[in-house]
Amino acid sequence: MARQVLDSRGNPTVEVEVLCQSGASGRAIVPSGASTGRHEARELRDGDPSRYRGKGVRQAVANVMTEIAPRLVGLPAIDQQHIDKLLCDLDGAPDKSRLGANALLGVSLGCAHAAAAVQGLPLWRYLGTCGHLSPADALMPLPMINLISGGLHAGENLDFQDYLLLPIGARSYSEALEMSVNVYRALSTTLTKHGFEGVLVGDEGGFGPRLHGNEQAVQLILEAIKQAGYEPGKDAALALDVASSHFYVSGRYHLKATAGVALSANDMVSTLRRWADDYPILSIEDGMAEDDWDGWHKLTAALGRRVQLIGDDLFVTNPQRLQRGIQEGVANSVLVKVNQIGTLTETLEVVRMAREAGYRAVISARSGETEDSTIADLAVATGAGQIKIGSVARGERLAKYNQLLRIEEQMGASATFAAWQGK
Ligand code: PGA
Ligand code: ZN
Repeated sequence: MARQVLDSRGNPTVEVEVLCQSGASGRAIVPSGASTGRHEARELRDGDPSRYRGKGVRQAVANVMTEIAPRLVGLPAIDQQHIDKLLCDLDGAPDKSRLGANALLGVSLGCAHAAAAVQGLPLWRYLGTCGHLSPADALMPLPMINLISGGLHAGENLDFQDYLLLPIGARSYSEALEMSVNVYRALSTTLTKHGFEGVLVGDEGGFGPRLHGNEQAVQLILEAIKQAGYEPGKDAALALDVASSHFYVSGRYHLKATAGVALSANDMVSTLRRWADDYPILSIEDGMAEDDWDGWHKLTAALGRRVQLIGDDLFVTNPQRLQRGIQEGVANSVLVKVNQIGTLTETLEVVRMAREAGYRAVISARSGETEDSTIADLAVATGAGQIKIGSVARGERLAKYNQLLRIEEQMGASATFAAWQGK
């Protein structure tokens, strides 16, 4: 069963329910990005301008009900790999554009929820038996918390998309969350003090002030960290999602916040290196554009030994693209977004590849999210060690943070936490 529901931007998205013979059922809702990578699996949108500005997903919903569901009826929900392979084969397109990655992912995750329910297990425990995973992999992740939003998520004048907090001094997930809230509230006060009053939040709950430049965001966050009583670099550090594909045009990085400067790849690398020298920035995502492999080589040579370099638009949770990155020694970490690839099995495959190659995996939400909290369970079950959901505001973000609190409680005394390892 599938239906059209809404995401956190009020755009339609796919919800799937899977009902098993025992009466157990599972439900999943599909997220959606705004700063999507060119090489992501394709979500199917109706394109009918008279309904939801063309963003309806009634065709994807129909595809679940008429093409996919009849093929699944009678199969064991627990056979995730078989189901996911069947979904990929049924679609037939490498980018899953025929039935829609949104249709496929809803079914794939819905089946996982149903299988967990059949077995009477919390989702994170059930996922720990899927693919290469074992229950011993379960680990509470360190959250990477969005504090200031720019780019395509908050419009206005900041080029870089996310300025995030890494609460590296935390000894548990719940402590990391509390530290993040303390810094988030302190940042609100800091912004007002600097004359940025009545600042609204962006798509992921981070503040969206009209700052004087990209670097000011970093300076304000450092001030907020101190204001909250923490020591920058020791208790709390910074992470960036540059999301640079979106200002990369004709081989240059166009920074409108710096008076329309267009940087070469070399200049972009120097800029990021200077930031990493001057500030406690421990993680940089999409510092270079999605197809600027040459630039990525340079960035990795410059910073790969001391900074976590995450490929998001670069790898798009795609085993083939990650394989190329690993072979060429590009980046050292991968962002993992279930809807970039479209099935749970392929997502787990990316996590496995990353682990074997010594790359870190960061489980991530999209800018368009819902109350669905599957990725919280996924982050724990994979033992990925880090999760990126957005800020500590907006219900679709808290659905995941709160689910992680529940899981931490379920793990009880055996809860192990992925403290920051350094790079
Ligand atoms: P998106 O942003 O969901 O809009 O792609 C998230 C990210 O870039 O990490
Ligand atoms: Zn990103």
